[in-house]
Amino acid sequence: MSRLVTVSRPGEEHIIPLASLDLPHGFSDRELKDAVAVHLKAEPASLAGHQVEHQGDRIVVHDRTGWSDAMVVRFLVWGVTFLFVGTIQGVVQVMPDIRRWIFSTGGAGHMIDPLAHAHVNLVGGVVMVVIAVCYYLLPRTLKRPVYSRRLAHLSLWGMAVGVSMWYLSMVTLGYLEGSMMLAQGIGFHEAKAAYQPWHALGFVIPATVMGIGHWLFIANVYLTVAKRPRG
Ligand code: HEM
Ligand code: HEM
Repeated sequence: MSRLVTVSRPGEEHIIPLASLDLPHGFSDRELKDAVAVHLKAEPASLAGHQVEHQGDRIVVHDRTGWSDAMVVRFLVWGVTFLFVGTIQGVVQVMPDIRRWIFSTGGAGHMIDPLAHAHVNLVGGVVMVVIAVCYYLLPRTLKRPVYSRRLAHLSLWGMAVGVSMWYLSMVTLGYLEGSMMLAQGIGFHEAKAAYQPWHALGFVIPATVMGIGHWLFIANVYLTVAKRPRG
């Protein structure tokens, strides 16, 4: 039976019979990668960081981590930045005057704490760091790259832009509506009505963007797990 070389790279997989590669007897991993590059008409440098694993009759050449390690760092940096913003808000909102303002403005104060505070910390901080951990672990445990770089990029921007928009929108609308309630002695429903359609849009648009960010990440995880190597 002819030995097969499986080349697994982000978004592509090739199975090449070893016999079809022009290799000397007792070839090295380096020679194998060079021959694979010639076969795929790829730059030899593009396979330089790839790992070669000899699995019985099969040889696997794969980019185990590659681009997804850069994505780990991006999610981590955004995650800790959101956590920084959220914990600063946490410290600010324990101040007695701020607590009083938040309590006395009902639904408007609720947008600032917990809606802005909880989501910037939990979605922006915790979820984004969890995503970074997933992108670190997936290629290493499955021994193949994450399914799609484009999905990872889009989900990063969905999360980063969505959480930022949600945060700014909750804090701004909460502050404007709360101030209107106190200045005019009106209830939350009247203040909210005065800020329509901005109030509704301020929820719906950031929520949709955040949702897309979560779901693209989730799709990428399912697709990475589902894409079993052939053979
Ligand atoms: C320096 C750090 C922080 C401070 C000083 C702080 C402070 C606060 C305060 C004063 C409240 C309002 C509690 C109340 O309404 O009785 C609150 C609520 C909340 N915080 Fe933080 N926080 C901090 C960090 C975090 C982090 C890191 C997370 C999540 C990872 C978080 C998640 C939440 C949530 C989910 C609520 C809403 C709880 C509820 O409505 O019952 N906080 N925080
Ligand atoms: C697309 C994503 C998300 C959207 C649009 C969203 C939106 C909302 C909304 C509208 C509420 C109800 C607010 C209220 O009426 O009191 C809420 C509450 C909450 N969400 Fe989210 N959420 C999302 C994701 C998440 C995730 C991933 C987490 C945690 C990791 C989270 C944690 C919370 C918490 C702790 C509360 C309760 C806050 C409180 O009242 O104490 N959310 N969210």
